[in-house]
Amino acid sequence: MKIFIDSADVEEIRDAAAMGVVDGVTTNPSLVAKSGRPMRAVIEEICEVVDGPVSAEVIATDTEGIVREGRELAAIHPNVVVKVPLIADGIRAVRQLTDADIKTNVTLCFSAPQAMLAAKAGATYISPFLGRIDDIGGDGLELIEQLVTIYGNYAYPTQVLAASIRHPLHLVRCAELGADVATIPYKVILQLLKHPLTDKGLAQFLADAKKIPS
Ligand code: G3P
Repeated sequence: MKIFIDSADVEEIRDAAAMGVVDGVTTNPSLVAKSGRPMRAVIEEICEVVDGPVSAEVIATDTEGIVREGRELAAIHPNVVVKVPLIADGIRAVRQLTDADIKTNVTLCFSAPQAMLAAKAGATYISPFLGRIDDIGGDGLELIEQLVTIYGNYAYPTQVLAASIRHPLHLVRCAELGADVATIPYKVILQLLKHPLTDKGLAQFLADAKKIPS
């Protein structure tokens, strides 16, 4: 399973990348706004830090505007993946971008029928937002399972990119279900490492190491 970091904070992306566990990066307008920097500068810098797919989202909501903006974003760096919202104009734009050999990540997916259309349009990635489905009392993991099954049934090349991951168990379940990628906030990447028995065991080993004669 590939692991992407869901962030537009270059420092935290650098930290996670230094662990050697980051295969790519996803951003969205909210994350870029939080960075307080212009979109282009953020994407350029992220592409210098991580050698893998970097999703950058369009702001336009009409097909022509999405395609134009998508081409501009894709021109920033060969690793840029154009993130497109799952609306009718977005799906039309995905077909055009795909035909122009530009990679796309269809975002804000909350249902299997939406994901089927994204795959038919040639999306490189589909981003089901599992945490946000859980937030409204649904079952985000059920959607991940449906997408993995449906895409598998027809060998669609579109990759399931589990997004809106809130805690380590989400990641583990996505891996068990066979999602191709999970994009995870930095905070959750750090949580993946934590186990009280690791900390307790290390403290004991270090205390005992002091008793070893030199
Ligand atoms: O980047 C898209 C997605 O991961 C957003 O997550 O936590 O804002 O629902 P969240």
